[in-house]
Amino acid sequence: MEQELAALQLEAEAAIAQITLLEGLNELRVKYLGKKGLLTASLRNMGALSAEERPRVGQIVNTVRDVIESQLAAKEEQLRLAALASRLAQETIDVTLPGRTFIKGNVHPLSQVQEEIEQIFLGMGFTIAEGPEIETDYYNFEALNIPKDHPAREMQDSFYITEEILLRTHTSPVQIRAMEKLVPSLPVKLICPGKVFRKDDDATHSPMFHQVEGLVVDKGISLADLKGILLEFARQMFGPERQIRLRPSFFPFTEPSAEVDVSCMLCGGSGCRICKGSGWIEILGSGMVHPNVLKMGGYDSEELTGFAFGMGVERIAMLKYGIDDMRYLYDNDLRFLKQF
Ligand code: PHE
Repeated sequence: MEQELAALQLEAEAAIAQITLLEGLNELRVKYLGKKGLLTASLRNMGALSAEERPRVGQIVNTVRDVIESQLAAKEEQLRLAALASRLAQETIDVTLPGRTFIKGNVHPLSQVQEEIEQIFLGMGFTIAEGPEIETDYYNFEALNIPKDHPAREMQDSFYITEEILLRTHTSPVQIRAMEKLVPSLPVKLICPGKVFRKDDDATHSPMFHQVEGLVVDKGISLADLKGILLEFARQMFGPERQIRLRPSFFPFTEPSAEVDVSCMLCGGSGCRICKGSGWIEILGSGMVHPNVLKMGGYDSEELTGFAFGMGVERIAMLKYGIDDMRYLYDNDLRFLKQF
């Protein structure tokens, strides 16, 4: 049996030495060391040996297995290196060839501006909330203090799906949705960016456009907080010299309400074509949250106050970049889009 094993080892060594392809190695591994391999078979014959002989022969079997294994490994390494060397010898890379340029797109100006608005408010401790674009009459109007027959609806009424469901006409419904979700925690301090839909369609209005809503609710919030936050926003967005002014206005969901103007970024306030000579440009609607709206959101309208604002992202983008027709933003004309 010892001789048989010695012969087996020699045979295996010879076979391994002759192999020139990696694939062949595996066959040999199976042939000698596999479950049905030759070495395993000789282990089975050990039953015929005497009890004294068994451990000694067992040792020999182990040694033979180790030898075959290490030879297989050595051969494998040798073949791999050889294969690599021959590939390296054949492959030539022309490092002088011009590279294939990867055409990089860029972020759409509207997305850029929306992101910039978000960053400014995140920097002031706001969080971001979102709501559905398909909205119920309740959230879009009713809960915002706009009852069914209110004339303020006429300004916005647009895409109805059923009598009770419509494409939201502003991001203000997210005020209610956010308060419902957050109540009773304080402060509420969030913005809600998103798409809104109205029936207008001209150079400065589109049936689909974007707004960013803002809502702050806490104890002791005043108009001064609104003004401070919006002044900071205007300066970060349009330059550190900007001033803002609040003009009385009306929204059913804020009381008092104010239209906010920013000093003209082109002429600095002296009057020009862009600001139509007034030195001021309207950028958003705002006001102190109407007590009814706080109540609808589940908050105590006696204890708490808040402010809200809503701005059009397209309008901000057009002012910032001097774009005079909103439709450029939707035309997907690369000559336009590449400028941002
Ligand atoms: N929702 C108003 C609009 O779309 C803007 C606004 C938001 C005004 C919040 C006041 C407070 O015109």
